[in-house]
Amino acid sequence: MGYGRFQKFLLLAKSNLDSTMIARLSKHFHKKLQKRSISIFAALHGSSSNKKYRIFTSDTHLELHPQWLRERCLSPLSVQQETLQPLHQPHEFCWPMDIETAALTDDGTVLRLRFSDGHDSTFQVQDLEKEASSLANCGVQQKDNQMPTPILWTDAEVMRIPYEDLVDGVHGEIQDHPDGIPSTFPSQIFKLTERLLTHGHVIVTNTPSNNMQVAAFAQALTQFQGFSSVRATNWGPVFNVRSEPDAELKDLAYTSSALSPHVDNPYRNPNPGFQLLHALENKCTMTGGSLAVDGSEVARQLREENPEMFRVLSTVACRWENDGGDKSTALVYFGPQISCNPTTDEVEQIRYSPKSGGYAPAIADPDEMDLLFRARRRFAELLNEDKNTVRFHLNEGDIWMFNNLRVLHGRDEFDVNEGTRHFQGCYIDVDGVQSAYFRSKYLLQEEAEDVEGKEENSSKSDKKKLIKSRSFGSSVEVWDTARASDFT
Ligand SMILES: [Fe+2]
Repeated sequence: MGYGRFQKFLLLAKSNLDSTMIARLSKHFHKKLQKRSISIFAALHGSSSNKKYRIFTSDTHLELHPQWLRERCLSPLSVQQETLQPLHQPHEFCWPMDIETAALTDDGTVLRLRFSDGHDSTFQVQDLEKEASSLANCGVQQKDNQMPTPILWTDAEVMRIPYEDLVDGVHGEIQDHPDGIPSTFPSQIFKLTERLLTHGHVIVTNTPSNNMQVAAFAQALTQFQGFSSVRATNWGPVFNVRSEPDAELKDLAYTSSALSPHVDNPYRNPNPGFQLLHALENKCTMTGGSLAVDGSEVARQLREENPEMFRVLSTVACRWENDGGDKSTALVYFGPQISCNPTTDEVEQIRYSPKSGGYAPAIADPDEMDLLFRARRRFAELLNEDKNTVRFHLNEGDIWMFNNLRVLHGRDEFDVNEGTRHFQGCYIDVDGVQSAYFRSKYLLQEEAEDVEGKEENSSKSDKKKLIKSRSFGSSVEVWDTARASDFT
């Protein structure tokens, strides 16, 4: 085992040493151990009666609390084996939790601990260090839960994927299908969802022009059980945007007017995640073009240009409203124009929809009030700049799918004299897309492992045949079996 590998291992420090001392010692021993082949660093200190092990990550010297480690134990006494769900409530563990014994084994890749409740646990060092570096890096029940890194854009062309590459067969409304939710093709679902998570939007082409097809596609994508995966709104499970607007529905969207970039429904709690907009029919080929703006990229630009403006827009909650135009609904939400992830500080959500208000609070400090309005003006200017806008045309059969928390959408005015324009849309939650991403990823990994296993078996079989032929038919085992662990 090389030193580079060693750096990733935990340091075991047995003592009442403070963290600074541990850090100093670890640096000292790291230097000493550079050319040695051992993998354990144990600083012994204190009397035998009060020896407690303290576990540190090797690179950042982050101390891992014994309770943090105890809750990562996957033994049958700690978690249900099929689901890995914990069996205990927080107050059912002994307190304080300490580490009585500790050892690194298996060439330093496995950490074995005995806790003060008498429980022995075995951990993969790599998993502990990965999870300790960030809560979002890896999970316990779902080991791989790392999202693709968002890629910000200003003028990237929107990716197009044919419907028939995604869904097995042509389906209309879910309730028409006795076999339940249509099955999908993992490789293309992975491609679609990865792009949705990195770039925020995709167009699915060649979608059959059936009523509610968009909801059926949403169901097929998420594979969530139940009547429907779509998130019902005050407009219904799906909404229709036609050149002949629904007489009962009152909204700017239900006219032929241009719509400036905006997000939908910032007045909902929670705000809807992904929108799917299906061009069931679109004879308006010269007018009514669509536009998209990456709100995260524009927020980044504002942050770089004027951090104070970014601060005020990301901290002051405004009020977003909608009453259906006739007081048939009463929806109100309070949130800032820009929301950041509390742990990463990355931009997580944009709220921008002039028709939904975004009414500012009356702030006592006149300078702060002035700054908020100036920041809002500048943010709006940036969101409407051509350099930040991607324009395209939605053809009949297209489903434009976009992250409504990130990608702002809009359209040019359309001319009703060109012909019928009928779009049908719906919303699904963000985790529907995330879940489809991981599900397809796992399926592809399983497929790859199956192929690998078959190839390996085939290779072993060839090797065995060769050995058999050399040993005149006697069976010879030529490969190692995994060594069983004796630590429970
Ligand atoms: Fe909209």
